[in-house]
Amino acid sequence: MDLTSEEQDMLAGNQGRATQKAMEILVALGRIYGAERMTPVTSVQVAGVSYDNLGEAGLSFLSEMAEGGGRTRVLTTLNPAGMDLENWQALGISPEFAEGQERVINAFGRMGVITTCTCTPYLTGNVPHFGEHIAWAESSAVCYANSVIGARTNREGGPSALAAALTGRTPLYGYHLDIHRRAGVTVQVRGRVSSNDEYGALGKAIGQKLEAAENKPVTYIKGIDSASVDNLKSFCASLATYGGAALFHMEGITPEAVQMPELHDVIDIAQSDIDSALSSMNDAASEDVDFVSLGCPHLSIREIARIASLLKGKRVTKEFWITTARPTKQIADMMGYTAVIEASGAKFAADTCCVVAPIKDRFHVIATDSAKACYYAYSKNKFKTVLKPFDDVVAEALR
Ligand code: F3S
Repeated sequence: MDLTSEEQDMLAGNQGRATQKAMEILVALGRIYGAERMTPVTSVQVAGVSYDNLGEAGLSFLSEMAEGGGRTRVLTTLNPAGMDLENWQALGISPEFAEGQERVINAFGRMGVITTCTCTPYLTGNVPHFGEHIAWAESSAVCYANSVIGARTNREGGPSALAAALTGRTPLYGYHLDIHRRAGVTVQVRGRVSSNDEYGALGKAIGQKLEAAENKPVTYIKGIDSASVDNLKSFCASLATYGGAALFHMEGITPEAVQMPELHDVIDIAQSDIDSALSSMNDAASEDVDFVSLGCPHLSIREIARIASLLKGKRVTKEFWITTARPTKQIADMMGYTAVIEASGAKFAADTCCVVAPIKDRFHVIATDSAKACYYAYSKNKFKTVLKPFDDVVAEALR
């Protein structure tokens, strides 16, 4: 690879052991993917934060980087942790787990990472602009940044994102280059979608067809009239989960859709495809729901306001987690939404989510509006799933 003198300096170890190790990771990655050089990045989002996933081996890598003088050079935020960093006892997290999770967060903090633990950094101040080169790791956020914002990132792993943070660089390949951002297939949607669960079902229907395609082409999606930020975050999470997609274009909605040529293969998505995706994520009855969770991806303040209006003056009958970024919860505190929600017996689970928290064996059936949460509820925790529109999920908690 063609490295600048500063990059060579980092690689030679003249800027500390952690920076050297970070540059070694990036150079190895660049060589694997045929990158000719590095590109500067302005924003990083690091995944692999939950102690449930990292364990002591992951923690020791982070400690080594922190103790080796690793310091972030660009705005860097974190994916959800395995617990609410303030309110973990109320969520039934063990003190041993909390101690491990706190050591993880402290290691990131020592390196200058901003420890807002969220998968929606674009709602809480880590917001790139169109065309900006970034290095993000959370798959739903990668898809959102590339597609909805038009920033440029590959789907980084935890170590490569941290390496980008400590050097301010990433290898120039993949979605950083125009050629890899072009659509290879048109998706014609012939059904109707309006709620988050339906956007999630659409993501699953398209994703499964992409999985069957040879080279997972970038999609150019037609037939969607309008989509809110909340719909799109749900869609991105689902498309990334079920189709491994990091980028799509949506006609009339996403910024790069205008640049697409007309000549593609076509995938048709009928109403029956969306309906069958919806029913595939409903394998339990409402009566059996023992856990309700909203906030995959993390809730926006608009969604929290809606929950408060639905719970006002009522009592929930089941464990109900509201998962969001701490800065978003702080707005909810300020607006009085938190007081209303907590008076109902529902619990905020800031900094974490129903997938990365250690809740296996605690519940059996989850109700959610998130297709991504359904995937992991089953694959990670062996829960059955009830997927419903947002308001109906709140109603499940009140049944
Ligand atoms: Fe975010 Fe957790 Fe879902 S990280 S996208 S809330 S699985």
